[in-house]
Amino acid sequence: MENTIRKIGILTSGGDAPGMNAAIRAVVRTGIYNGLEVYGVKKGYNGLINGDIERMDARSVGEILQKGGTILQTARCLEFKTEEGQNKAVEEARKLGLDGLIVVGGDGSFRGAQALSAKGLPTIAMPGTIDNDINCTEYTIGYDTCLNTVISAVDKLRDTSSSHSRCSVVEVMGRNAGYIAVETAIACGAEVVVVPEVEFDMEKDVINPVKEGVNRGKKHCIVIVAEGIGGATEMAKKIEEATGMESRATILGHIQRGGSPTVRDRVEASRMGAKCVDLLLEGKKNRIVCIQNGVMTDVDIEEGLAMKKSLSKEMLELAVKLSV
Ligand code: ADP
Ligand code: F6P
Repeated sequence: MENTIRKIGILTSGGDAPGMNAAIRAVVRTGIYNGLEVYGVKKGYNGLINGDIERMDARSVGEILQKGGTILQTARCLEFKTEEGQNKAVEEARKLGLDGLIVVGGDGSFRGAQALSAKGLPTIAMPGTIDNDINCTEYTIGYDTCLNTVISAVDKLRDTSSSHSRCSVVEVMGRNAGYIAVETAIACGAEVVVVPEVEFDMEKDVINPVKEGVNRGKKHCIVIVAEGIGGATEMAKKIEEATGMESRATILGHIQRGGSPTVRDRVEASRMGAKCVDLLLEGKKNRIVCIQNGVMTDVDIEEGLAMKKSLSKEMLELAVKLSV
C-alpha cells in the first residue's frame, strides 16, 4: 500500500516532563529521515485550536536533547475538552494538511488524542509524565529524572537532619499515585513512606517507626509522603509532639519536574518518539506507545486507558524492611 502520510505534527500536553524535548527531536528527525514534513504545535491543544503551529527542521531540534521542559511549551486546554474546541482543532489541522499527529502527555492528553483520531486526524500518543501513573506502560518519560532529582534533594536533607538529630518529612509529587514516593524511599533509605494506594495509621505506621529508629540509635529520620496524602507540615508537627524529635517538613514541589533528563529518559523518549512516527507511517492511529514486560509496543488508546497497574507491594515492604 502506498504511504499516504506526508505531513505530521507533534505537541506536548499536560504537565511537562524531562525528556519531552528528546521526544520532539526524535519525532522531527525520524519524520525528516522518512521524507515527511514535520510541524510543531505550541502549548498543547491550544496551539492546534489557534493554529499556533510551526514547520520544524532537523536544526530546529538541535541542542535540545539535554534540556528539561519542552520547547513547544505545554498547557492544560479546557476549550479542547468541548466538541467545539475539538472541531476547531481538526479544522486547523486540515487547513495545514496534517495527515497525522503525535501527542506527548498523560491520561488526559490521551483522551484528547482519542477524540482527534475519532474525528479523522490519525493520532498516536506517548506517555510523558513524571508520575509514572499511566496504566498501560511500565515507564513514562520524565520519571527517572524526577526520581534522581528527589534523591539528590533528600540526600541533602539527610545531611542536615543527621547534624541536628531531626526528622525530615519530605512531600514528593505523583498526583494520586505513590510510584515516586516508593522508589525514592528505597533509594534514600527512608524510615517511613506513606502513599495513597495503602491505608495508613499515624500511630502505627509513622510515629512508632520514628520512635523505634531513635531507640535503635538513628541520628535522623526520613519520612517520604506522597502528595496524594499531603499534609507534610502537619505530619512533621505530629511527629515532633509524639516523639520529641525535632521535625521539619519540605515540600519539594515543581523542582521535581525540571532539569536535564537522565540517560534513561533521553533514550526511552528517543525510542518512543521514533516508534510514534513508524506507527503513523504504517497507517496506524489511536495508539499509545508503551513499555510492557520491558518491551516497547503499542496499544489502542481506549484499551490502554482501561488497563490497571498497581504499586508493587514488594517494593513497599522492601522500604519498610530496609529501614531497621
Ligand atoms: P495529563 O495529560 O498530564 O493527564 P490533563 O489531565 O491536564 O494532563 O490533560 C491535558 C489536556 O488534555 C487537557 O487540558 C485537555 O486539553 C486535554 N484533555 C483532558 N481530558 C480530556 C478529555 N476527556 N477529552 C478531550 N481532551 C481532554
Ligand atoms: O502530573 C505531573 C504533576 O507534576 C503531578 O505530580 C502534580 O500533582 C501536578 O502535575 C502539578 O500540576 P501543576 O503544574 O498544575 O501544579
